[in-house]
Amino acid sequence: MLKKGLFITFEGCDGCGKTTQLELLAKYLQDKGYDVIVTREPGAKGLGEKLREILLNYDGEVSSNCESFLFLADRAQHIDTIIKPAIENGKIVLCDRHIDSTAAYQGYGRGLDLARINYLNELATSGVKPDLTLLFDVDTETSMQRVGKNKDRMESAGIEFQEKVRKGYLELAKNEPQRIKIFDSRKTIEQLHQEVLAIVAAIL
Ligand code: TMP
Repeated sequence: MLKKGLFITFEGCDGCGKTTQLELLAKYLQDKGYDVIVTREPGAKGLGEKLREILLNYDGEVSSNCESFLFLADRAQHIDTIIKPAIENGKIVLCDRHIDSTAAYQGYGRGLDLARINYLNELATSGVKPDLTLLFDVDTETSMQRVGKNKDRMESAGIEFQEKVRKGYLELAKNEPQRIKIFDSRKTIEQLHQEVLAIVAAIL
């Protein structure tokens, strides 16, 4: 249906509701006859799943630098084997987290140099960039309540870390308003879905 594929990413703090919105959009587009691929970072499949397991569950020391390279390794594999071929085949790729997660979590959250992260992101993606990024913003208290008690390694990094990540995301959206659209996650699932459809319709 599309001559050239479309690449849409979903971003936000843990517990922001992005995955629910991704699934709703995927269903809507599939019902309309579009060829849609739903994928995620870290850990789409194969090697990525192994990297996800380490990134989210390894309980020994992980340096911030090492952490960023593991997320980037997952991204390189994901772009080369799944995302790029799908876009080239005219599919709509809906991806749960991508480059902005590394900027927000490892850059703003862990405090790694942002220019360096941008450069590494470019290397990992061979320059492929999302056409549109949907950012679901939620306050840190609500986000942590939604995550609950069973926290993975990243979710256990503490409230201050999560706050830095949230502020980082908002900063990223301010710097790239054309690509990154902010949604207020306090709205209902249906309200958010309608807002997402309005934005996506404009680029279909
Ligand atoms: P999720 O897939 O359940 O959203 O969890 C992935 C976790 O990994 C989440 O806490 C965000 C974090 N993350 C990073 O810190 N950097 C990254 O580049 C990516 C893709 C995810």
